[in-house]
Amino acid sequence: MKKLFFISFVLLLLLAASSVRGEDDAYIGVNIGTAMSSVPSPSQITALLRSQNIRHVRLYDADPAMLAALANTGIRVIVSVPNEQLLGIGNSNATAANWVAKNVAAHYPSVNITAIAVGSEVLSTLPNAAPLIMPAMRYLQNALVAAALDRYVKISTPHSSSIILDSFPPSQAFFNRSLDNVLVPMLKFLQSTGAPLMLNVYPYYDYMRSNGVIPLDYALFRPLPPNKEAVDANTLLHYTNVFDAVVDAAYFAMAYLNVTNVPVMVTETGWPHKGDPSTEPDATADNANTYNSNLIRHVMNSTGTPKHPGVAVPTYIYELYDEDTRPGSTSEKYWGLFDMNGIPAYTLHLTGSGQVLANDTTNQTYCVARDGADPKMLQAALDWACGPGKVDCSVLMQGQPCYDPDTVEAHATYAFNAYYHGMGMGSGTCYFSGVAEITTTDPSHGSCVYSGKNGSALLNGTSLAPSSNSTADSAAQRAIGDVSTFVRTVVSAIMLLSVFLL
Ligand SMILES: *[C@@H]1O[C@H](CO)[C@@H](O)[C@H](O)[C@H]1NC(C)=O
Ligand SMILES: *[C@@H]1O[C@H](CO)[C@@H](O)[C@H](O)[C@H]1NC(C)=O
Ligand SMILES: *[C@@H]1O[C@H](CO)[C@@H](O)[C@H](O)[C@H]1NC(C)=O
Ligand SMILES: *[C@@H]1O[C@H](CO)[C@@H](O)[C@H](O)[C@H]1NC(C)=O
Ligand SMILES: *[C@@H]1O[C@H](CO)[C@@H](O)[C@H](O)[C@H]1NC(C)=O
Ligand SMILES: *[C@@H]1O[C@H](CO)[C@@H](O)[C@H](O)[C@H]1NC(C)=O
Ligand SMILES: *[C@@H]1O[C@H](CO)[C@@H](O)[C@H](O)[C@H]1NC(C)=O
Ligand SMILES: *[C@@H]1O[C@H](CO)[C@@H](O)[C@H](O)[C@H]1NC(C)=O
Ligand SMILES: *[C@@H]1O[C@H](CO)[C@@H](O)[C@H](O)[C@H]1NC(C)=O
Ligand SMILES: *[C@@H]1O[C@H](CO)[C@@H](O)[C@H](O)[C@H]1NC(C)=O
Repeated sequence: MKKLFFISFVLLLLLAASSVRGEDDAYIGVNIGTAMSSVPSPSQITALLRSQNIRHVRLYDADPAMLAALANTGIRVIVSVPNEQLLGIGNSNATAANWVAKNVAAHYPSVNITAIAVGSEVLSTLPNAAPLIMPAMRYLQNALVAAALDRYVKISTPHSSSIILDSFPPSQAFFNRSLDNVLVPMLKFLQSTGAPLMLNVYPYYDYMRSNGVIPLDYALFRPLPPNKEAVDANTLLHYTNVFDAVVDAAYFAMAYLNVTNVPVMVTETGWPHKGDPSTEPDATADNANTYNSNLIRHVMNSTGTPKHPGVAVPTYIYELYDEDTRPGSTSEKYWGLFDMNGIPAYTLHLTGSGQVLANDTTNQTYCVARDGADPKMLQAALDWACGPGKVDCSVLMQGQPCYDPDTVEAHATYAFNAYYHGMGMGSGTCYFSGVAEITTTDPSHGSCVYSGKNGSALLNGTSLAPSSNSTADSAAQRAIGDVSTFVRTVVSAIMLLSVFLL
């Protein structure tokens, strides 16, 4: 199985063609939450999904306009029963049948609905609704059977991993026993219908709550020195990351209840790219990029987990968009891969991702001065880019193509972008103390052509030595400056440079 997958994966890379086996075995999907002050239209959302080659999504409801936009795209869709609707469905066969008719049968097969997620983390967040879960799942299943859709559409419910207790070492994990009366019949149901156990896995929170016990590298899938690897003393299995340990804890917890043939699907996982600097210092773009890039590689490689090597764990990243109207801590708003305009929060470091979320559009990004950024900070950042940053800023001089418009924003944009591209668009290279941002709109104008596809605009390290002495150090202290002093500085730097080269 693993070998077959690997061969098809290689073919996928070689032929750049989609492989059905690869797609069904190991895949990365995304969650689409919509708690945004301005929600992109369904057609904008599907355009983004297509451009990123995202083939699997989970919706938190069954919005008819969104389903209409997903029709005939080939994208596989998990629809959800929101928690508020559990009461109605769990109490009435007829309500469940109506729900399936309206939200599933009416769209299938033009919308490839593969599962219904019944509620979200009900057992951990709404214990009072726990008794409704099994009736709701059964009624929905009856309705699918009646509509002859049960072969294609599976019913399950996403759990918080907090219902698994003592999850390290994984071999000792078990489900909170006070939930047995729901979980035992639920696992039987999943077994008999061929549905997966849906699990939300958040190494970010595990790390945050561990008070330093869990190393950041272990949460981020970074290599650990062998003596830091976690070993399960009972099984002697080595764990190199939190994600695998939590998934295996779920397998062991099921086995504890004698269920060994229900696969795990990770319905949510991710990492926030921004948070409150004092209380959430690890919510950074670098960490989010590292987590999600490594996660995608890990899942697509079909490595499986130590307990089930080679068994793919289908995984949905939380989430497609930043949700700026989410309440709670700052980081709650910044789990997205994209902002609401479809601009990537960071460029994933991906090779071997099976092309999902690869750089199809993200390699057309530009780094520009942030709207409304403080001009003094922009000036300081501009001085830095043209000094120690080693950007060739000669095109910003009077008479040169990028002199006009002669504003600090325009000049900073040129320099930021040249730096960003010169650094290979690496994560963290479009930051400049927060006055820069990434966009997909090419800021080139007239004869001022921004670097992008034709290579680096950075000067070679050694050749700029005089200017970093004369521009940068003084600029860093000056902090305040205007464009003309800046241009003068560059002119003198370049004169120095030519003297130096002669
Ligand atoms: C629910 O509907 C199914 C078929 O649609 C039927 O078999 C089952 O008996 C009904 N259950 C209840 C509690 O009405
Ligand atoms: C829907 O997706 C499933 C799972 O990937 C696939 O097997 C099936 O062929 C798809 N159905 C349609 C109608 O595209
Ligand atoms: C187990 O679940 C019960 C019922 O939801 C809850 O009250 C209890 O706090 C849970 N135990 C742990 C250790 O999480
Ligand atoms: C699991 O199987 C063991 C041995 O057959 C049995 O003693 C135990 O009661 C079973 N547990 C459950 C939850 O079915
Ligand atoms: C992919 O999996 C194989 C083993 O199955 C492993 O040797 C290899 O290092 C993995 N590659 C990546 C990029 O994780
Ligand atoms: C994505 O972009 C990065 C940086 O530009 C590059 O290193 C990487 O190879 C690209 N990945 C793909 C799949 O093109
Ligand atoms: C992105 O980069 C890849 C590899 O460098 C290239 O094949 C592809 O055409 C680029 N995409 C766009 C839209 O420029
Ligand atoms: C990039 O290439 C275009 C077309 O070949 C050229 O006009 C432009 O000046 C180049 N830009 C840079 C920064 O080299
Ligand atoms: C920088 O140096 C490399 C090799 O030393 C050379 O190939 C390249 O052309 C130089 N670039 C510039 C802008 O001088
Ligand atoms: C410039 O470099 C020289 C020699 O390295 C050093 O003595 C001098 O302090 C530097 N000037 C500034 C402003 O840093």
